[in-house]
Amino acid sequence: MSSVQPCGVSDDDRRPPVNDLLEIAQRGLALKPKRLPSWLFYDERGSALFDKICEQPEYYLTRCEIALMDEHAQDIADTLGSEVRLVEYGSGSARKTRMLLQHLHAPIAYVPVELSAEPLRRSVEQLAMDFPQLPLQPLCADFSKPLRLPIPPRAPRRTVVYFPGSTIGNFENREAAVLLRKMRNEMGDAGGILIGVDLKKDPAVIEAAYNDRAGVTAEFTLNMLRRLNRDIGSNFELSAFAHRAHYNPMAGRIETHLVSRREQHVKVGRVNVPFRADEAIQVEYSCKYSLEDFAALAARAGLAVQQVWTDSGRMFSVQYLVRASTLVR
Ligand code: AVI
Repeated sequence: MSSVQPCGVSDDDRRPPVNDLLEIAQRGLALKPKRLPSWLFYDERGSALFDKICEQPEYYLTRCEIALMDEHAQDIADTLGSEVRLVEYGSGSARKTRMLLQHLHAPIAYVPVELSAEPLRRSVEQLAMDFPQLPLQPLCADFSKPLRLPIPPRAPRRTVVYFPGSTIGNFENREAAVLLRKMRNEMGDAGGILIGVDLKKDPAVIEAAYNDRAGVTAEFTLNMLRRLNRDIGSNFELSAFAHRAHYNPMAGRIETHLVSRREQHVKVGRVNVPFRADEAIQVEYSCKYSLEDFAALAARAGLAVQQVWTDSGRMFSVQYLVRASTLVR
């Protein structure tokens, strides 16, 4: 029988209070260069636009990760072993998770961790229908903060933290190491981390993925300003800013900016923020890794790469990490 626990927290309750948002925006826009955090993209419209990005022909990441799961899900499940508790960070629509769950051997529980209550409730409802035997223990929480995981119905052999979709790439190296270290603590001695990692490749291919011809990514980026206007009453004129995403080969990452098309002032609370023509707000990094880069990042968090799977074009990888001290070669 499925054990769907009510999420118990409404979406609105979980949103940062307006005063916090205002302070975050004012602080970021006072920096030199200006900078706003990428989680500001994800209001309801932003999340829907991100789903649309995943369908764009240029955005290879989702397609490649799904192809990879299609080919290797059985092998991945065998590597994770039986009686696993699967904890997914930022579960979203959980499409890739289904591919994994179908192959897991006698899983103990699935714990999707998601900040937005409503999408979490919807995806759990669907999963309960598709996997009636699987205990579901949804957790409404910010995965970047310490988590109190629900008590599993039976003791699992291991806890595996699943973090698909290259979201690790949205963290700078130091923050990514901190997040991996936090996962390492949560999974315990016998646990593991199954993580999606986008690989370095022809910069033109990467740049195209963040500059789709239909303009969906541009709309997604600009949505951050629309969201701020709605939530904190700022007066960004959307047509006075442009989306810009460039690959920085030295840093190995896409750097996304909102660029002011002209000299202007924007009201953010009581602050009048000045912009020069062409001045940019940095809004997102999307880091790309070689296998060596990622192994080095994992090592900084006390982890070792036990296994790597890639799609046939070696565009994207899914990697299984364990505590460095427990890896037997
Ligand atoms: C969520 N994350 C992995 C996406 C990425 O590729 O960095 C977000 C995104 N930004 C623009 N396009 C997609």
